[in-house]
Amino acid sequence: MAKLLIKNAEIITMNAREEIVKGDLLIEGDKISSVGASIDEENVDQVIDASGRTVIPGFIQTHIHLCQTLFRGKADDLQLMDWLRTRIWPLEAAHDEDSVYISAMLGIGELIAGGSTTIVDMETVHHTNEAFEAIAKSGIRALSGKVMMDKGDDVPAGLQEKTEDSIQESVNLLEKWNGYDSGRIRYAFAPRFVISCTEDLLVQVRDLAEQYGVFVHTHASENRGEIAIVEHDTGMRNIIYLDHIGLAGKKLILAHCIWLTDEEKAIIRKRGVHVSHCPGSNLKLASGIASVPQMAGMGINIGLGADGAPCNNNLDMFNEMRLAALIHKPANGPTAMDAHHVFRMATIDGARAVGMEDEIGSIEPGKKADLAILNMNQFHCSPSFGTDPISRIVYSAISTDVETTIINGKVVMENRLMKTIDKKI
Ligand code: GUN
Ligand code: FE
Repeated sequence: MAKLLIKNAEIITMNAREEIVKGDLLIEGDKISSVGASIDEENVDQVIDASGRTVIPGFIQTHIHLCQTLFRGKADDLQLMDWLRTRIWPLEAAHDEDSVYISAMLGIGELIAGGSTTIVDMETVHHTNEAFEAIAKSGIRALSGKVMMDKGDDVPAGLQEKTEDSIQESVNLLEKWNGYDSGRIRYAFAPRFVISCTEDLLVQVRDLAEQYGVFVHTHASENRGEIAIVEHDTGMRNIIYLDHIGLAGKKLILAHCIWLTDEEKAIIRKRGVHVSHCPGSNLKLASGIASVPQMAGMGINIGLGADGAPCNNNLDMFNEMRLAALIHKPANGPTAMDAHHVFRMATIDGARAVGMEDEIGSIEPGKKADLAILNMNQFHCSPSFGTDPISRIVYSAISTDVETTIINGKVVMENRLMKTIDKKI
């Protein structure tokens, strides 16, 4: 089994005691085997000298649209429903196999370069197989699925699909990709949101997700116009409707969850549904500010996501963490969302959201080696900004501070330019 040794690092473990240790990190095969103890360089295959560097668990992005990476800059300054109807849906309808593949590869490159190692991804109606091909080649860990849209008069013809086709294509992709590369890739059903899905489709998704033991990933209660349509169509609040269908459970990830009543939040808590908070997207699309401090206080598990490139303009978890900490301060006080809280959301809480808290999200012996190595010695986040490395990461670090990204024990990105500059210094 290949042995990779990371020497002399500061290791932010995110274990239950949130210990930060200084020392070596040994990876054997795809797993972490030793954290902190000094390890001899002999008998290992590869050594990374991480002197002065900080090793963190790879980020887990709980809501991403790889297929939208190519749309960056093509849908700015709009709110959700206009944004979807006038820009995003026509652009998705125009996708072909090559453009989906390129869009996915560009998105994955950006994610990995910024230290993200796991994504929960929603594709478009067609060509999702190409996105899976990109995920497979790149080495990123992913839960992904084709978007499902069997309802909506305002949806372009190219995206309209029949219920049975939507289900059949999803099952075909699931059977092809779920569990690929020892479970690095998992299928997650992706009904777009309640207003683009018939009840028949949602009921079938519920049964199939249960049958195959996979996750369901959808948007919910992002925008006031959206929830008004849900209430008009179903006579119910969005979350009440999802619960009525029987979809609300531990394998449901809901992106956004901004416009919820206390009753809806209580259902999310009771059923163990996971929320993906996307602050960058919520600001740019003028959707609103989710009541994250309150939901977290109730015990709801909340991860972070950049959403698609056109609703955020980047796929950068450093940006999401910083926004998640900042946007809740004015209404809730400076410690409502402290640095440690948002760093947990980006790592171990994200792992919990995908049901993998025993495998990823922290640096502990026996867990998968999904890591990022940061160089926080540059002026913008020098140690003089504060001594707590987690605060420095959240408030000062940027994605180009990531020098190396490791997934499943494999180095998937090495910023050699940064290393060359370091050597010259
Ligand atoms: N709601 C339905 N579709 C989408 C989408 O593509 N992006 C976002 N942010 N919200 C949605
Ligand atoms: Fe989204």
